[in-house]
Amino acid sequence: MSQVVTETMVRVENVHKSYGRGAAVVHALRGVSLEVPRGELVALKGRSGSGKTTLLNIVGGLDAPDQGRVEVGGRDLAGLDEDGLLALRRDHIGFVFQSFGLIPILTAAENVGVPMRLRRADARAREERVELLLSLVGLADHAGQRPTELSGGQQQRVAIARALANSPSLLVADEPTGQLDAETGHAVMELLRAVVRSENVTALVATHDATLLDLADRVLELSDGEIVEV
Ligand SMILES: Nc1ncnc2c1ncn2[C@@H]1O[C@H](COP(=O)(O)OP(=O)(O)OP(=O)(O)O)[C@@H](O)[C@H]1O
Ligand SMILES: [Mg+2]
Repeated sequence: MSQVVTETMVRVENVHKSYGRGAAVVHALRGVSLEVPRGELVALKGRSGSGKTTLLNIVGGLDAPDQGRVEVGGRDLAGLDEDGLLALRRDHIGFVFQSFGLIPILTAAENVGVPMRLRRADARAREERVELLLSLVGLADHAGQRPTELSGGQQQRVAIARALANSPSLLVADEPTGQLDAETGHAVMELLRAVVRSENVTALVATHDATLLDLADRVLELSDGEIVEV
C-alpha cells in the first residue's frame, strides 16, 4: 500500500453504530465525528458502556459503522474489502489491548516479531527491528522470556513493541493499563507518550488513567455514544 500523505491521520464523520434490534437495540455510537492530526496522542475517556471500544474497533477497521464515514491516513475504510482491511491493519495500524494478547508459547522477541512474519519481512531485518523495539520498551534483557515469565507491565510493554513492529502510522489502544496497578500503569502510559513522539506515530487511547489524561495532547469524552466537551 502506498505511503500515507495526508496530515489528518484519522477522520470520523457522523458515525452511528447500533447493536441488536427492536426493543433490545443499543445505540453504541450516535453521530460521532472527530479528527486526529498526524503525530497527536488523543485520550478517549467516558463511562463504561459509553462507546469507547466500539469507536476504537471502527477506527481500527475491526468493525464497520452502520452510518457515517471513517478515514485512516486518507483512506475511506468503506472502500476496502476484507483483504484491504487486513492489509491496512497489518501494515498501518498497531493494536494494544487491555489483556495484552501475547501468544503464550512464544518468547517476548518472537511475539514482537509476529506482525513482521505476517508481512514476510526478511529474517535479518526482523531480528534487528525486534531488538530495537525491545530496547525501546526497556526489555532488551528479557527477549527470551515467555509471557508467563514476565510481569503484567512487562507483558504490556512487549505488546506495545509488537504493535510498533511494522512501523504503523496509527496506534489504537483500548484501556492498555486496565489490568495494571497504578504505578505500573503510569510507567506504561509514559512509555506510550514517549513512543508516540519517537516513532512519529498517531495514537488513539481509551483510558480512565489520570496519567495519560495529563500526558495526552487532547482528551475527548464519550457520553452515551456522543462526544461531549471536556
Ligand atoms: N457486540 C455487541 N453486542 C451488543 N451490544 C454491544 C456489543 N458491543 C458493545 N455493545 C454495547 O454497546 C455499548 C457501548 O459498548 P462499548 O464496549 O463500546 O463501551 P466502552 O465505553 O468501551 O465500555 P467499557 O469502559 O466498559 O469498556 C454498550 O451499551 C454495550 O453493551
Ligand atoms: Mg471498552
